[in-house]
Amino acid sequence: MMKKGIFITVEGIDGSGKTTQINFIKNYMEEKGYSVVLTREPGGTKIGEKIRAIILDPENKEMDSITEMLLYASARAQLISELIKSAIDEGKVVICDRFVDSSFAYQGYGRGIDIELITRVNDIAIRGIKPDITFWFDIPPEDALKRRKTSSSSDRIEREKIDFYNRVYDGYSILAKTYPERIKRIDATRDIEQVSMDIKIWLDKIINRAL
Ligand SMILES: Nc1ncnc2c1ncn2[C@@H]1O[C@H](COP(=O)(O)OP(=O)(O)O)[C@@H](O)[C@H]1O
Ligand SMILES: [Mg+2]
Repeated sequence: MMKKGIFITVEGIDGSGKTTQINFIKNYMEEKGYSVVLTREPGGTKIGEKIRAIILDPENKEMDSITEMLLYASARAQLISELIKSAIDEGKVVICDRFVDSSFAYQGYGRGIDIELITRVNDIAIRGIKPDITFWFDIPPEDALKRRKTSSSSDRIEREKIDFYNRVYDGYSILAKTYPERIKRIDATRDIEQVSMDIKIWLDKIINRAL
């Protein structure tokens, strides 16, 4: 029987270093002999990318927060059924740039939607698939904002005010404290190599099934 794969999710506000470290995780796991699948939320499937475009379109100013929460969950449902579930069943390592914790942090703590409601909706979407480990890149929102390229035009979510990001940050902080066995807080204010070294320690534990 083939052994079950590993599901890794990466969380944190934009500019916290997710994309940078996902590349490290991918290379490291491939060196260890795993077949790695990279994906992102919202999106990762043809349908999901269309939903992503609706969510992030700066012109969709009138979007209701419940509509937004359901769209994220819809894209997630498609990603789980089309890609994540089968990849895990095939023994692969799946690395997802954002997952359900983003819905709790942004739609829950950021927008103020009831956490219990987000849980119920997402339980329908994820069909029992839970991350084996989640890295939360902890960096103050102001520092993360500074890292973001000033040149690139911002999407609908990125145009939110600093107060919103502070609530999202507090949300991540609460989630990490609530689920310490799954969510690993990584000090993302340090340089890229130092952050990668922290991640490597956790990956070795996961590989050895010692988590
Ligand atoms: N540890 C770090 N220290 C300094 N700059 C970083 C660090 N990690 C990433 N960066 C830079 O910050 C910017 C945002 O990083 P990125 O990985 O794209 O973050 P995210 O995917 O979370 O938005 C990029 O220009 C990246 O090169
Ligand atoms: Mg990124």
